[in-house]
Amino acid sequence: MKKALITGVTGQDGSYLAEFLLEKGYEVHGVIRRSSSYNQERLEDIMSAEEAEAIQNNENFHLHYGDVTDALNVTRLIGEIKPDEIYNLAAQSHVRVSFDMPGYTLDVDAKGTLNILEAVRILGLTEKTRVYQASTSELFGKVQEVPQSETTPFYPRSPYGVAKIYGFWITKNYRESYNMFAVNGILFNHESERRGETFVTRKITLAAARIAQQKQDKLYLGNLDSLRDWGYAKDYVECMWLILQHDKPEDFVIATGEMHSVREFVELAFKHVDIEIEWQGEGVEEKGINKATGEVIVEVDPKFFRPAEVEQLLGNPEKSKTLLNWNPTKTSFEDLVKVMVESDTEKVGKELFNRKMFD
Ligand code: NAP
Ligand code: GDD
Repeated sequence: MKKALITGVTGQDGSYLAEFLLEKGYEVHGVIRRSSSYNQERLEDIMSAEEAEAIQNNENFHLHYGDVTDALNVTRLIGEIKPDEIYNLAAQSHVRVSFDMPGYTLDVDAKGTLNILEAVRILGLTEKTRVYQASTSELFGKVQEVPQSETTPFYPRSPYGVAKIYGFWITKNYRESYNMFAVNGILFNHESERRGETFVTRKITLAAARIAQQKQDKLYLGNLDSLRDWGYAKDYVECMWLILQHDKPEDFVIATGEMHSVREFVELAFKHVDIEIEWQGEGVEEKGINKATGEVIVEVDPKFFRPAEVEQLLGNPEKSKTLLNWNPTKTSFEDLVKVMVESDTEKVGKELFNRKMFD
């Protein structure tokens, strides 16, 4: 039985990856942060006795307290578990928040990655343990070519992107210096029903559900022109695993090869709750109007603008299609929006997710 260690197991990707690996018969270990409030919501399907049977016996699922900024803790955990595979998904992953917390973002996203690689090296596990680093399309930032591939030069535009660029290079450096199987998945945006509520897609699908059920009046957004290559998180965690199963340690771009604007996402999400949006005005004055009632339901609030913006991201998934035999369009953009709106419609209906987020 293979052993995997996942940092960031309580996050969107970590929770899907844990389920995926348990289904594959792995013994899965996850790092969880001590928190004063409940932080295991996304792991409930694994933890609940009912679902566990369908996923895999949850006897194979183990949680450990830890934090990637704590090198002692990381080294002890890796030494005790001696995993065959490590998936380093832990991160301060919110781009706008990284402008408020650049130092902390650096500690977690850059130094945290080093702590893991160095632990594997110090413990003499370089031949046994394969390491996956959660790299990101944010490395491309102010894009130098369209679409972006494994050979496109980087130009990060946020403290998050800059910290992640260290994570990318230190992973590659350990691969080249110590002959480790240490690799980067350069993943473009991927979303799901489990997406954090302050990322734009989830903010929109939750608002569409609440507005349709008269539990919210308006949705305030930042840059509506922003373009992203949005995929489905459940499809993307499979790729993380495929990258580690590949015969050679190589970095891969994971993307759909399709780009849509925030405005398009809004239109489609509201369409699923039978609200047709009509846009009026421009820039900060642009408003989304409910065509049937004339009510303004979407407005721009400059507080959601970023000091430096990534205007567009479009990935070229050719390498992962060819070498990993991965299908980037398993879930279409339309299906992704639908699945998220349906899930939020149900949750809002059950009075879940009616809290106001600080964002
Ligand atoms: P997420 O939902 O924000 O999850 C982040 C995870 O990291 C959470 O489990 C969080 O724990 C944990 N974490 C944060 N700081 C930590 C620390 N100091 N020590 C240990 N754990 C820590 O992010 P995601 O969307 O699943 O993304 C997973 C990874 O892929 C991240 O590294 C992200 O930067 C990267 N990525 C994401 C995307 C995307 O579109 N989703 C695209 C490219 C790359 P808590 O639950 O306790 O906060
Ligand atoms: N969050 C947010 N909130 N974003 C908004 C809003 C808003 O109200 N209005 C417009 N946007 C725009 C942002 O300015 C950005 O251009 C785009 O929507 C997407 O924002 P996010 O959903 O916050 O994601 P991101 O692209 O900044 O970062 C995500 O994807 C990266 C991969 O490219 C995160 O998951 C990162 O961790 C990941 O690396």
